[in-house]
Amino acid sequence: MDGSRVLAILNHKGGVGKTTTCFNIASAYADQGLNILAIDLDPQSHLSVSLGLKDTGLNGVDELFLEHAEVPGYILNVRENLHLIPAGLRLGEVEKLAAKGRQQAMVLRNALQPVLHHYDLILIDCPPTSGLLNFNALFAASEVIIPVSSDYLALHGLSQLLRTLKSAERFMQKELPMWIALTRFTTRRRLSNQVREKLIKYFPRQLLATAVRENAPLAECPSFGKSIFDYSRRSNGAQDYAALADDILYRRVMSNDEPALH
Ligand SMILES: Nc1ncnc2c1ncn2[C@@H]1O[C@H](COP(=O)(O)OP(=O)(O)OP(=O)(O)O)[C@@H](O)[C@H]1O
Ligand SMILES: [Mg+2]
Repeated sequence: MDGSRVLAILNHKGGVGKTTTCFNIASAYADQGLNILAIDLDPQSHLSVSLGLKDTGLNGVDELFLEHAEVPGYILNVRENLHLIPAGLRLGEVEKLAAKGRQQAMVLRNALQPVLHHYDLILIDCPPTSGLLNFNALFAASEVIIPVSSDYLALHGLSQLLRTLKSAERFMQKELPMWIALTRFTTRRRLSNQVREKLIKYFPRQLLATAVRENAPLAECPSFGKSIFDYSRRSNGAQDYAALADDILYRRVMSNDEPALH
């Protein structure tokens, strides 16, 4: 496998399933034996908490920005094959550095360089903002995964987000493949199906094949510090995230001609 795949899980809209997706696909890959680094780039520290880290006061990404620290000292081995750089208590202060110029957008990318080749995949859980942290994620990433929840207003702002990503690509002078992951899907709800149909129509080559269903165990497992695979292996959530993890690995998209997987 190409050892330099760095996936930014990004959507400026809040509560669409970024952290749930990041946490569970990271766990799916680690369970398969891939060596994974997950980065908690959200001052809310939800990824760290989901992975069972009670002490969210640990330093992490914040010190890369605020102390010019180096990455290796901040990597925690949280499970077999799964490593984490926590957000750190002061990550919220980082947005203020935006005024200090373009170089600040490269901090994460530069900091990751020495460890890139240690991992099969690196996943970045992004915050629901549109500031410096997300620019850092885009500079560091080789691909972007955009979770979109299957509800009212889900599509609102999506074309704007994609335009922003395109202009970021031009600015960075690199291609950034983008994939859309449909989350919180309710099979019998007309609205969910309408959202999916619109996504297939407008993003035919970017919508990942699996729609992740709304599933209570997915919301429960973070409070036990367990992935969906450890918490409820037979749940729809476990099935869907295992399939979505493969979609991302093999770049499988939803086809217009086939019925949905559920
Ligand atoms: N498929 C699902 N089924 C049931 N609950 C879900 C599902 N996906 C996410 N949730 C729940 O929805 C809430 C928001 O999900 P999550 O935290 O992953 O979103 P987010 O995009 O990371 O939010 P934020 O923008 O605040 O970082 C959480 O309580 C989560 O447990
Ligand atoms: Mg989140």
